[in-house]
Amino acid sequence: MREVVIAANWKMHTTPGDAGSLARTIAARTREAGVTRVICPPFVCLAAVRDALAESDPEVAVGAQNIHHEVAGAYTGEVAAPMLDGLATWVIVGHSERRRDAGETDAVIGRKVDRALDAGLRPILCVGEQLADREDGRATDIVDKQLRGCLGEADLARARDGGLVIAYEPVWAIGTGRNATGFDAAAMADAIRSSLDAMGWGDLAPSLPILYGGSVSSTNIAEILAEPSIDGALVGGASLKPDEMAGIVARAGITARARGLAPD
Ligand code: 13P
Repeated sequence: MREVVIAANWKMHTTPGDAGSLARTIAARTREAGVTRVICPPFVCLAAVRDALAESDPEVAVGAQNIHHEVAGAYTGEVAAPMLDGLATWVIVGHSERRRDAGETDAVIGRKVDRALDAGLRPILCVGEQLADREDGRATDIVDKQLRGCLGEADLARARDGGLVIAYEPVWAIGTGRNATGFDAAAMADAIRSSLDAMGWGDLAPSLPILYGGSVSSTNIAEILAEPSIDGALVGGASLKPDEMAGIVARAGITARARGLAPD
C-alpha cells in the first residue's frame, strides 16, 4: 500500500523567531497514525523547525523548498543538498514558482532530483500544467514532457529506494482558491503513472506516491483523498494555519486507516 503524505510548503513565510512555535503547534494538532507529515519552511527557519520538532514530535519530518543542482561551487546565495545534512530529510524540487521565477528547466530539475538522492534527501518532484494548457486539452502532454525531462535519465531503483514522491500541482490552482476536482487530479495521477510506465518504470509506477497540490484546504481535502490514485497533498497557504492542517491531516488519517497503514 502506498504511504499517505501531507507536506506543508510554507513558501516565503515565517522567521527563525516564529517558525519553531508554528511547527510545534501544527505537530500537536496533526498527530494521526499512518500519515507521513513533512514541514518545509524557508532555509533560514530549518534549524528552528528541526529543534522544535525534535523536542515535541520527532515523527514530523523537515524538508527544504529547493536545492542547487551542483554539489558545491561559485553559486552565490545558493544552497547545495549536502549542506542540509542534519537540517532536513526531504526537499521540494521543481516547484512551479521556481520554474517561473528562477527559470528552472526540466533538465536542471532532473539534476536536482539526483543531488537530492545523492544526499539522502527524499525529493518531492513538482509537475503541472498552465491554465492555457488545460484549456487546450494539452495538460497530460505537458506533464508527460516534464516527467521525461526531469526523470528521463533517472536511475529508477535509486529513485524508488530514495523515496521519490511526485506532486501534481496545476499552476492555475496554486494560490488561487480554485482547486482541481478530485476527478481531474486522479485522472492526472493515472496519466503520470502511465507516463512512468511508458518510460520503463514498470512495476515501480504503481508504487510511487503522487500528491495533489493547489488550493488544498480542510474543506476540499475529502474530495481529493476520496480518489485512490491520490496519496496525499502538498499544501501551501493552508499549511500556515494550524486549524486547516488539523482538518487536512485528520482526513488523511481516514485514508491511512482505509489502506491498512494504521489500526482502525
Ligand atoms: P496553495 O495551497 O497556496 O495553493 O499552494 C500550493 C503549492 O504551491 C504547494 O507547493
